[in-house]
Amino acid sequence: MRTVEVNASKKYKVLIGEGILGNTGKYLLEVKSPCRAAIITDDKVASLYLDTVRKSLEESGFKTVDFAFPNGEASKNIDTYASILEFLADSKLSRTDIIVALGGGVVGDIAGFAAATFLRGMDFIQIPTTLLAAVDSSVGGKTAIDLDSGKNLAGAFHQPSLVICDTNTFGTLDDRQLSCGYAEVIKHGVICDKELFSRLEDGSIDLSETVERCVKIKRDIVERDEFDNGERRLLNLGHTAGHAVEKLSCYSLTHGAAVAIGMVIVSKIAERCGYASESITERLCALLEKYGLPTECGMTPDEIFSVSSSDKKVEGASITLVIPEKIGSCVLVKCPLSDYEKMLSAAV
Ligand code: GLY
Repeated sequence: MRTVEVNASKKYKVLIGEGILGNTGKYLLEVKSPCRAAIITDDKVASLYLDTVRKSLEESGFKTVDFAFPNGEASKNIDTYASILEFLADSKLSRTDIIVALGGGVVGDIAGFAAATFLRGMDFIQIPTTLLAAVDSSVGGKTAIDLDSGKNLAGAFHQPSLVICDTNTFGTLDDRQLSCGYAEVIKHGVICDKELFSRLEDGSIDLSETVERCVKIKRDIVERDEFDNGERRLLNLGHTAGHAVEKLSCYSLTHGAAVAIGMVIVSKIAERCGYASESITERLCALLEKYGLPTECGMTPDEIFSVSSSDKKVEGASITLVIPEKIGSCVLVKCPLSDYEKMLSAAV
């Protein structure tokens, strides 16, 4: 098993290995004495993994209750969030108990936000069951729900007490899930790890090492900028245009597919607007296609711009873009929204 230690406002471990889900109770005992554990999950993940996690927690002395909501991004809303809070209150959970987020990014984000706010904040652990959640949303303490106006518009920073990544669970729900996770993996390579990018190209890296490498990259960035005031924004590579195309597709595009398209758009911006010191788009598209990801969408620059302008990354009349200069190096560029509109027209 691989272990990555995160030293943010809270210290915690990220455990990565094959078939480690059945040891959840044992790992949790290392950070928390037996208490009540509320497992928050979705219906599809529950049918596969709830019994294993519940049994493991009960065997280690935790008393469990569980709540499952319908799988999918459409559930990451204020109604599901309110139902989770009511469930926690009905279950009489106290501040010394724990929430266990079992599932992909939607479960982790919404259960984490419930943990951040129920009784003004309680401990939680993340058990990501998708590659995407393992390398991105389960680490670093961002929790959120979507509003009608856009993704992740209400949320809080709240670090987990432990993250357990069982790589055997990745890709078991849906064929698209692994490739979706690889969009975030490739993103880490473009941001700051050209060796990771090359090893993905030549296929010389396995899943556990891939997760460990991405978690370490994210850990280092989060330790330097936990509250997202500067460097952490690099992790938004591909997300500005990506969130827009995801919303425009009414979420028929997965988050990973949307981020893949967003990264291609911004790499074209980098090349056509003079930021890139080498050609990026061709290599990027080839790697995304190798992992079954799309590299274009049928949306117009105007459509993408109109949705991007309500993004969290907009401050007044400016937006901060993450622009690749070359594979393994990106910069933050703050520019007027009107310039972003022109860049989009040049690139899309
Ligand atoms: N998913 C981007 C971040 O955690 O900052």
